[in-house]
Amino acid sequence: MKKIKSICCIGAGYVGGPTMAVIAQKCPEITVTVVDINDKRIAAWNEKNVENIPIYEPGLPEIIKEVRNRNLFFSTSVNEAIQRAEMIFISVNTPTKTYGLGKGMAADLKWIELCARQIASVANTDKIIVEKSTLPVRTAATLKSILTTTGNGVKFQILSNPEFLAEGTAIRDLLCPDRVLIGGDQEDREGREAIQALVDIYREWVPETRILTTNVWSSELSKLTANAFLAQRVSSINAISELCEKTGANVGEVANALGMDSRIGSKFLNSSVGFGGSCFQKDILNLVYIAKSYGLHEVAHYWEQVIVMNDHQKRRFAANITRSLYNTVAGKKITLLGWAFKKDTNDTRESAAISVADYLINEQADIAVYDPRVETEKIYSDLDSLETRTDLENRTKLKVFSDPYEACKDAHAIAILTEWDEFKSYDWARIYNCMIKPAFLFDGRNLLDTQKMLNLGFVFRSIGAEPRSAKVVKIRTAKVG
Ligand code: NAD
Ligand code: UGA
Repeated sequence: MKKIKSICCIGAGYVGGPTMAVIAQKCPEITVTVVDINDKRIAAWNEKNVENIPIYEPGLPEIIKEVRNRNLFFSTSVNEAIQRAEMIFISVNTPTKTYGLGKGMAADLKWIELCARQIASVANTDKIIVEKSTLPVRTAATLKSILTTTGNGVKFQILSNPEFLAEGTAIRDLLCPDRVLIGGDQEDREGREAIQALVDIYREWVPETRILTTNVWSSELSKLTANAFLAQRVSSINAISELCEKTGANVGEVANALGMDSRIGSKFLNSSVGFGGSCFQKDILNLVYIAKSYGLHEVAHYWEQVIVMNDHQKRRFAANITRSLYNTVAGKKITLLGWAFKKDTNDTRESAAISVADYLINEQADIAVYDPRVETEKIYSDLDSLETRTDLENRTKLKVFSDPYEACKDAHAIAILTEWDEFKSYDWARIYNCMIKPAFLFDGRNLLDTQKMLNLGFVFRSIGAEPRSAKVVKIRTAKVG
């Protein structure tokens, strides 16, 4: 059986970088080259100081330090890397299409197709092509069709090996995955050999019982479905959070009660301002599009609701801020703590913060933002990309701060939008003292201790709990006593 010695990964992003770093660490005999057309990104991966690599991911700098220029290389020489590799991972972006057929729903496979054409045009030896990007079911057939029509005699095997890492915990997820999924042509000897070659790589650190091999279509569809199920849980608990706010139930208590049922499980039941990230929405839209394209309208409608509920959650969070501040936020300073879509990442794609900021700016609020990891320019480009107003207006209405206390000074309200750990240890009394009164605190992540915040004097609103103020608590305490 052939042992792979040389790997190329096309796409040096949030998936390509960390996954290849871990493969390089665990398989020192394999040379791994990660290539990208974005020369700035490659330059950042090659930054001498590993703290300056382009993505923030706990544990990654240490691995990069160990393997970079040992058997892991970052390069813009795509053709050379393709030619040298026996196995090529495609790990490029597959965002939702913003034009033409399937606009706003289907995955844009433009970059995938470009990769396939480039591989087809330069490859001069047989290759195993691994789909690492998340792709619509049956994309492998498209790849095969492009790759096999070059007529130069080079043979390609196509595998699907979707990535299940979550940002912020990517290294832990890669080192200790729940499962590794490999889809390939099990009917064919060369297909089976290709599957085995990839299994052998993962076997270096993943127990064999966690390596699943399936047919290609099952693998492609499992990835989309896994994200859809995870997002569905968040939307389900968020739907219940609104009911809690009306009925006096507490969503944390409800989630706890549900999660202790081993059939339900406790993960992904944290009610929030809404899920973000580059994948949940795009992958569900993609699933909806595929279902529609097969005429499965009920299936499509069912999954679409996960996104409808998420949009509703983000909107109602922002609307609640406006309503609570006496129906107007015009000219009021509102501070957003957190811009990343979750903690421990500098990724902001589809972050709820973007929608909340946009909503509040439309209500003429003055927004202050503090995030410990997101760069100022990223925050502005996220807002600009909505094309809701001019770039200049965004810079006038939103200011970015590097100090959280400065960001909160003279604010009418603070909204917590990312669950960064450091927010928990702030001097909240100091923050309260320098705010305009009444001082409102909207906890979009249920991160802070309600009672503590009420005692400090905040008007405190969390997700999925009845609105409470210090006064109400005192009356209740008196009754109980
Ligand atoms: P990303 O945007 O961070 O990185 C993709 C990279 O591919 C970019 O740097 C881009 O310049 C490069 N690229 C695009 N076309 C290229 C080409 N023709 N040649 C060379 N480089 C090219 O994207 P990502 O977050 O790493 O996601 C990649 C894929 O993995 C997507 O399909 C995504 O759905 C999937 N995925 C992402 C995550 C995640 O946590 N981000 C997790 C699992 C799966
Ligand atoms: C998600 C999946 O968890 C990964 O398995 C998958 O590989 C990845 O998408 C992908 O395909 O890109 P990721 O988006 O990085 O990973 O992060 P998650 O931890 O899933 O969080 C997604 C969003 O849901 C975040 O905004 C998070 O704050 C939110 N969330 C998550 C909640 O609001 N409540 C929860 O209980 C869990």
